[in-house]
Amino acid sequence: MNMKYKLPRQTIKQTNIKPIIERELIRQGAPLDPMANKNLKELAQVTQTIKKNGLPDYLVLKKISDQIGHGIFLHPDAKPLKKGQVIGPYSGELSIEVQNKADDSAYAFALVTEMRLNKVEQKALDNANKFAPSRHYALNLDANKYGNFTRYINHCEKPNVEAMMHAIEKNKENLEEMPIEVIYIAKKTIQPGEQLLVCYEDEDETYWNAYGVKPVPMTPKTYMLDSDHNLVN
Ligand SMILES: C[S@@+](CC[C@H](N)C(=O)[O-])C[C@H]1O[C@@H](n2cnc3c(N)ncnc32)[C@H](O)[C@@H]1O
Repeated sequence: MNMKYKLPRQTIKQTNIKPIIERELIRQGAPLDPMANKNLKELAQVTQTIKKNGLPDYLVLKKISDQIGHGIFLHPDAKPLKKGQVIGPYSGELSIEVQNKADDSAYAFALVTEMRLNKVEQKALDNANKFAPSRHYALNLDANKYGNFTRYINHCEKPNVEAMMHAIEKNKENLEEMPIEVIYIAKKTIQPGEQLLVCYEDEDETYWNAYGVKPVPMTPKTYMLDSDHNLVN
């Protein structure tokens, strides 16, 4: 399948929001760990592959069912992915919006909530509303229109992939600095043929509740890809 989604890393939709994000992370007492050098190297490699080919050759995009849609599998002939290995950045469009905006997409996640904006910032980022000092804003990352293969990684409760939030600081790999970025990392060894799965939920359990549906229970081995790229379950 031709991979249409080839955005190597997140894009920022609004101007000058990096300092606001940094300030709010500090105000909330939640500064992020920078990434380890080994992971920065892996991140640089995978972003180059995404830019060139979309999907790394050790991964396969495959439709599972009408309900679940597509999913990402480790190629049956690939080497296992090691625990701690970078899978890829969850890329998409990053923007500060009024919190709990109704039109969130199925590919959107709120990375920071309860952000406070001053009058000038609200005017610049939320011109439709009158200034309200106590209004909460959220930092949303949406891969609906633009993203990469990570947008096809499905949900389960006991996943083999973990979504880590890191700051990307000045680095030798020439990766643009980011105050916050979601990086998918192998949570355990991933075997050939297994589906890559991540847990979408935080402690507020906002993802599936917003839909009013329950996810199909899956493990990485519920659907396995065989050497002919057929699904076995
Ligand atoms: C980020 S997308 C994942 C890729 C999606 N399967 C596709 O083909 O575009 C999230 C959506 O995938 C589907 N999905 C992911 N995990 C699921 C699960 N465990 N059960 C049912 N649907 C799931 C839901 O429609 C969900 O809103």
